[in-house]
Order: sequence, then C-alpha cells, then structure tokens
Amino acid sequence: MNGNSVPPADEPARQYYYMGKCQKWVQSFERRKGRRPTACIQTFGCQMNAKDSEKLLGVLLEAGFAASEDEASDFVLYNTCTVRDNANQRVYGRLGYLNRLKQKNPEMIIALCGCMMQEPSVVEKIKKSYRFVDLIFGTHNIFRLAELLYCCLEEKQMVVDIWDGTDQIVENLPARRKYPFKSGVNIMYGCNNFCSYCIVPYVRGRERSREPEDILSEIRTLAADGVVEVMLLGQNVNSYGKTLDVPMTFAELLRRVAEIDGLERIRFMTSHPKDLSDELIGVMRDCPKICRHLHLPLQSGSSRILKMMNRVYNKEQYLALVEKIKREIPDMSLTTDIIVGFPGETEEDFEETLDVVRRVRYDSAFTFIYSKRTGTPAAAMEEQVPEEVVKPRFERLLREVQQISSKVCRKDVGKTMTALVEGMDTHDGRLVTGRLGNNIMVHFPGDASDIGKLIPVMLLESKGFYYMGERLP
Ligand code: SAH
Ligand code: SF4
Ligand code: F3S
Repeated sequence: MNGNSVPPADEPARQYYYMGKCQKWVQSFERRKGRRPTACIQTFGCQMNAKDSEKLLGVLLEAGFAASEDEASDFVLYNTCTVRDNANQRVYGRLGYLNRLKQKNPEMIIALCGCMMQEPSVVEKIKKSYRFVDLIFGTHNIFRLAELLYCCLEEKQMVVDIWDGTDQIVENLPARRKYPFKSGVNIMYGCNNFCSYCIVPYVRGRERSREPEDILSEIRTLAADGVVEVMLLGQNVNSYGKTLDVPMTFAELLRRVAEIDGLERIRFMTSHPKDLSDELIGVMRDCPKICRHLHLPLQSGSSRILKMMNRVYNKEQYLALVEKIKREIPDMSLTTDIIVGFPGETEEDFEETLDVVRRVRYDSAFTFIYSKRTGTPAAAMEEQVPEEVVKPRFERLLREVQQISSKVCRKDVGKTMTALVEGMDTHDGRLVTGRLGNNIMVHFPGDASDIGKLIPVMLLESKGFYYMGERLP
C-alpha cells in the first residue's frame, strides 16, 4: 500500500489511520468532481445486521462520504443475510440492477458483506458471474471496512477478505445511529446452539460475550446522547456472559443496565427457551424499565421435530415455561418464530404446532417455510417435505396466528399505555406512530415534535395488529 507512514498494528487505531487515508481520497474526489462522494448501505436480515450497518455507515461518514438512501451512489454496500434462500435470491436480483447503475457511473464501487459472504459457494459465484463487484468481506471483519475500502481504492481490482472466525471484539469505532432516540446494543456475537436447520452458527461463528463494562459504558453514552430505549442484541441472550473471564448472567446484566439514568426502556432479542432462567423472569417482573415483551421462538410444537431440530426442549417444557412466565408477569406479551415443513414433519407434528399456538395465544408470530441451508444437518435429512404439502400448512398456520393475535390485541382496547413516538404516520400527516412497551404500534394525533418522546396514549380501537389511539395530557 502507498503512504509514507506505517499503519499501527493495534485496533481500533489501525482503522482510524485508514479512515484518514480514505479522507485524502475523498478530498481528491471532491476536487475533481466538485462534490463529496455518496455512500449507500442496504441492509438485509435481522437486527444484528442493522446494527452492523450503523457501524459501517459510521466509518464511511468519518472517511468523509455523504450518506445517501439512493443506490445510484458512488459507494454501495449490501449487508447481506442468508438465513433463508429467499434472502440470497433478493441480493442476486438486486445485483443486476447495481450492474446497470455501474455502467452509467463506471467509478462506482460495489461492496458486499455480511452473512451470505461467509459461504464459500456464494463468493465463488460472485467472483465468476458478478465480476463488477469491487469488495467482498464477511461478518468477522466488518471493523476493517476503512482498511478494505482503502485497499480497494488503491488496487482497482476485486478485493476479497473473508475470515473463518474470530475471537476478537473491536470496541470504540464510530457508528451512525438510524434513530436518535433508540438504539440496538450488541451484548454478544455468534451462536453455539447449532439448531439443525440454521446457518447462523456457521456464518456468525462461536458465541462471544462483550465485557459488561463495555456494554454499560456504551449505553451510558447513548443515554447521555438522548437515547431512551435500547434493544440488547444476541442470538441467544440467555446464555450471555457464560464465557467471560468473570462470568455474569444475562439477568444480572439487565439489572445493571436498568440502573442507568435517562434510559427509560430496555428490550432484548432473542431468548432461547432452553436457557431462560427464573432469575431472568424475576428481574423482568421487578424492573419497570424492562418492556413487557418476550420473543420466545417456538420453531415447532412437536417434541419429535424439536428433537430433530436440536432445540433441547420439548412441547411440555415450552408450555410449562410459558405458564410460569404468565403466572409471574400476567401482562407479558409473547411473540414467536415458527418454521413449517421441517424435514419429516407430518400432519400430526403440524397439529402439535397449531396446538401450542392456540394454547399460548401469541401477540404475534413470525412464520417461515423451512428453507434448506447447505451444510446444516437438516439439509442432509431425508424426507424433505414437498412444497405442495408445506404451502397449505403454512397458510393454515398464518390464519390461526392472525385470528388469535387480533383477539389478543383487542383485549387492551380502552387501556392507557405509554408509546415511544418513532415517526410520522406514513399515510396520514396528522398522526404519529408510536411503539408500546409490548412492541405493538399505535397511531394517534401528533406532530414531528413528538418524535422520540414517551407519551401516554389511550387505546381506542384495535386494527388487528396495531391500534388507533388518543393522547392523554
Ligand atoms: N437466534 C434466534 C433466531 C435467529 S434466525 C433464535 O434462536 O430464536 C430467525 C428465525 O429464522 C429463527 O427463529 C427461525 O424461525 C428462522 N429460521 C432459521 N433458519 C431457518 C431455515 N433454514 N428455514 C426457515 N426458517 C429459518
Ligand atoms: Fe440459529 Fe438456533 Fe442459533 Fe438461533 S439459537 S441463531 S435458530 S442456531
Ligand atoms: Fe440473517 Fe445473519 Fe441475521 S443470516 S438473520 S443477517 S445473523
């Protein structure tokens, strides 16, 4: 690489050095074109990816790029997801569009990162058939964006940097939050559970917890900066802290987060039912800042299928857990994820899933058709369920889930709850949209000055999965 100084070996100093190098490039771009280069990040997938994108954007802004929502930008980065095949297909589809944009602007830099890039077959396919891509990196080295981008600007050929795994957690890099008033906060990375259908442990690597002090000081800084709601992020937050030098439970971490002044609401995602402790239920019950919402993925209601999925709980244990939670915290809102059509799923297995759905009465549920992920144990299982059997089951489940959630939602009409206003209503300029503690949205009269505020709202009418409301003084 060019340059007369030697890049520092330590992180994050090394990345700040490269941000400085990129700034020089940005300045010369500006002199040539009379404007700053624009950067656009498109995020696919879950909250972890959304959080990663905020970090990636922070680096680009520090380097001097101007943020843009428009893919006709000078630098475009797709932060990809590979949890189901349709996520991959969307990326391939959009790449065709990016290629056409690049033909109009040959200096455009196209970069791909995230979970999909951790699959060697994907990278091979891109190298072969999508040669207009300039930069590819994975999930373990997103902190190196500045260095990789600089390398890309210098080398003028495809730069590929994928790591198999890492035990490194690089702190103190810039980030640009999407919302001024709420933020995701990583508490752990990776996953060790290896549910047999799931590709996440392969593309995100082994479980690593952040040090509690790093998490707490990040949240203190956020709170001082006006953030009132945080979402603690991990694939299985209930196993937080087990591998730290000084272990700490997730419940204890929550207790400490709740002590932070200025912070009003705490959420977290995702809770694996197998590790949900009594201690956690106690902390949720006793701490008003923790939202009355638990996302508790079921995946299947059949004990036989759960065993094949390697979920480590059975139908009865799941139902007993739900009962315990509802007994301790009666107003707890429960949501879930369900997969239909796992290999070998029979009509009887599917009926067991419907049975759990009817008994638990979820506030809402994300339902997915099983997607075969190469390299996972389930992909090698015989008896993959044919599409013509899965589709009708999926429709039946969806109907059941929707009917129940609209009834569950109705029971709170007439109550007053606090909403955090997230933005203007997209259909009616006289209304704002707020999120209730139970994660359901409410629309009520207001204006832009309400955004980011916590406002008491009377729920007037249920529209199935959201409410119309009226603000209280
Ligand atoms: N760590 C979280 C889930 C992350 S993936 C947890 O354990 O709950 C989000 C959801 O995607 C999963 O809960 C599961 O329902 C779904 N999912 C994962 N792999 C899938 C696959 N191969 N096919 C269909 N859905 C899948
Ligand atoms: Fe995937 Fe299971 Fe890990 Fe969740 S807990 S990310 S479903 S392997
Ligand atoms: Fe997708 Fe990766 Fe999240 S595969 S669901 S973006 S962890």
